[in-house]
Amino acid sequence: MKKSEFKRRRTQLMKMMGKGTIAILPSASQVTRNRDVDFPFRQDSDFLYLTGFDEPDSVMVLIPGRKHGEYILFCREKDPEQETWHGRRAGQEGAVEDYGADDSFPIDDMDDILPGLLEGNDAIFYVMGRYAEFDQRLIGWVNHIKEQSRSGLHVPSEFVSLDYILHDMRLFKSREELKLMRKAAAISVIAHLRAMKLCRPGQYEYQIAAEFDHEFGRSGAQHAYPAIVGGGANGCILHYTENNQVLNDGDLLLIDSGCEVQGYASDITRTFPVNGKYSPAQRDIYNIVLAAQMAAIKKVKPGNQWNDPHNAAIRAITKGLTEIKLLKGNPAKLIKEQAYRKYYMHRTGHWLGLDVHDVGDYKVGDQWRLLEPGMVLTIEPGIYIPAHSKGVHRKWWDIGIRIEDDVLVTSTGCEVLTQALVKKPGEIEALMAG
Ligand code: GLY
Ligand code: MN
Ligand code: MN
Repeated sequence: MKKSEFKRRRTQLMKMMGKGTIAILPSASQVTRNRDVDFPFRQDSDFLYLTGFDEPDSVMVLIPGRKHGEYILFCREKDPEQETWHGRRAGQEGAVEDYGADDSFPIDDMDDILPGLLEGNDAIFYVMGRYAEFDQRLIGWVNHIKEQSRSGLHVPSEFVSLDYILHDMRLFKSREELKLMRKAAAISVIAHLRAMKLCRPGQYEYQIAAEFDHEFGRSGAQHAYPAIVGGGANGCILHYTENNQVLNDGDLLLIDSGCEVQGYASDITRTFPVNGKYSPAQRDIYNIVLAAQMAAIKKVKPGNQWNDPHNAAIRAITKGLTEIKLLKGNPAKLIKEQAYRKYYMHRTGHWLGLDVHDVGDYKVGDQWRLLEPGMVLTIEPGIYIPAHSKGVHRKWWDIGIRIEDDVLVTSTGCEVLTQALVKKPGEIEALMAG
């Protein structure tokens, strides 16, 4: 991502904040996994969006119109010994030279400097409630200014949610962001194709999961979320991540896995037969989910409401399930009663971006949001029929199917970013046979 893109975002945000305001945003912290071992560091998505700075222990400050510099970055000081053990740091010079900060101070000096920056502003834009410890520090600084108000210090009187404007900005993807999302999608597609080609009865779920580690790793990408690799009954567990069971001949395999590139996520699900051939019952359910997914994708276009794809999916699922008698009654009535929820209990998608479940409101007031060009969402209907489901013939048991693609709203309709990954049953079977 170019430096100018981050600057453009900060400028846009400051324009919306207006004069007499200050924005404060802490980075994510390094989290301990166990004695002397940390979890891989993942930057706070808002912080990454505005700074491109990938270090922990940092704080971004924006002060629109400040003469001595609008963008201040607090970060770790350079420290040869620490860097020998733990890796390179940008330091204050790097923050200015390489990341476009107007000024930078050591994070350890923040208590001395930040109150002075707060003073004189009316409103503080902040992410209250996200970082409990930082909340306390910030309130402490404000109270400290209050105590001195009698000596003429101007106390900020208002906390404003930074999320509110920032998350609306993040909802609309720029050309640069879409480039990264296309790249993430392309890598994930290759990984899913690899899994389909390599899958055999008798393998373990983790062996298939390892193909995703390999493909993402060799492409310089990371998992955007823990992979779900669920054979048979495990396909009916929505957030199954143990991935430790054997894959049986005759079962389906549901894989929900996507990588992120420079923080930008992809999110793909495919469900295919472990032995390469769908049984008639599996194919029946698969075709219902596929019809629902195609109907939902058709509804992704500017001017349609957020909920239109979901409504299209539940119509197709209800119709399909009545045709094979898993639901009985009048489809319109069944939809009203939400009878489909026995087999389809989640929603049809979510925004996608720097977070896999990305930010942005789904409603404006009490109305579903209208789709607009530049938004990216997933379309991911499914049907899940656990064994021993009441009144359900055993031929349907343990069929869990989800099909998920990533979809960009364009000016004329939509573009499926994950289009290159096969999803028709015949195409999947041909690929697995090849
Ligand atoms: N991978 C999480 C989801 O599909 O929402
Ligand atoms: Mn998803
Ligand atoms: Mn998913």
